[in-house]
Amino acid sequence: MTAARHGAAAVLFWAAGLAGAAAPDYAEVAAILRARCVMCHSGEAAPLGLRLDSLDGLTAGSRNGPVVRADDAAGSELLRRIRGDSLPRMPMTGPPWLNDPEVAVIEAWIAAGMPAADPAATAAVATAPRPGPGEKVSYADVAPIFATRCAKCHTDNGLMGAPPEGFRLTSYPATLSAAERVRVVPGVPGASELLRRIRGLSRPRMPFDGPPWLDEDEIALIERWIADGARNAKGEEAPIPVGARLRFEGTLTGRWAIDGTPISVGADTRIDKRPRLGDRVEVRGVVATDGSILATRLRRR
Ligand code: HEC
Ligand code: HEC
Repeated sequence: MTAARHGAAAVLFWAAGLAGAAAPDYAEVAAILRARCVMCHSGEAAPLGLRLDSLDGLTAGSRNGPVVRADDAAGSELLRRIRGDSLPRMPMTGPPWLNDPEVAVIEAWIAAGMPAADPAATAAVATAPRPGPGEKVSYADVAPIFATRCAKCHTDNGLMGAPPEGFRLTSYPATLSAAERVRVVPGVPGASELLRRIRGLSRPRMPFDGPPWLDEDEIALIERWIADGARNAKGEEAPIPVGARLRFEGTLTGRWAIDGTPISVGADTRIDKRPRLGDRVEVRGVVATDGSILATRLRRR
């Protein structure tokens, strides 16, 4: 069974060779790792210390030792995890697992002695520039932050099993979903639990495995993205989720404002435990037609 799968990979690589392709270089491998592995295998909290976000990290291996061996590519721990010969199978978020051509590229690259990338190709995949002062921030600008710092937990089969609070940060619709409650209120960063959590205004602060937290630059970019209307990757503003429920906590800084963000409190708002200015409070509310927040309940914590 295992041999048959290895055989299929070898045939694919052989076919690629016939088509005139040279042995894959690190750029091809890095693209696969970036899409499927780096969300977990990077930074301080990389599982078993294995960082897959650079060639140095990959060749350094994990706390258990090297994960790639040119003299035994198929027997390398990296390949064994990808094929499920060693458990838990990777990527931990699978299925889906890597497909046969992706596995073949990685195996061929290891067997070829793990050649570095062609510098010209690497330059082309350097990080995209941040939008300038006058430009609108879109989902494409913030998605890489969610992918590398949040999706390892906020996904199905992530590090914590099911996504915490049912909140997935793996796609634009999931991030904006109002199914249970909204965590992003387009145009109102201060009422968006997502922003409140990364700033530490709502607790526990995110990412849950921090510090390190997001840096000020990343937080400011996400704040601008929400303020600009939480646009999709094409730059189109998100519709206001009228009637969607939300819930967050913070400090009462005015009558009525939470950490400076105004909320409407009316005759229908249930107010518990007489909150006073400076108190920590929990707000439950709904999004009004104009995007403002109507509090349904305000409770001192
Ligand atoms: C959702 C998080 C997550 C993702 C995504 C993920 N991993 Fe892992 N990986 C882990 C965890 C957690 C472990 C430790 C599991 C264990 O106890 O063996 C691990 C362990 C490993 C190991 C074992 C290292 C050793 O020395 O034993 C390898 C190799 C590995 N991952 C490769 C990958 C590759 C390749 C990908 C992408 C195709 C990937 N991982 C994607 C979380 C993840
Ligand atoms: C190590 C796992 C982990 C990582 C990484 C992580 N989270 Fe969380 N997240 C959690 C857990 C656990 C909770 C529930 C905590 C609680 O409220 O008690 C949570 C809750 C949340 C909530 C509240 C959801 C709600 O409706 O109550 C938001 C918003 C959130 N996370 C955003 C993020 C963002 C944004 C990132 C990345 C910058 C991130 N998280 C990274 C584990 C994680």
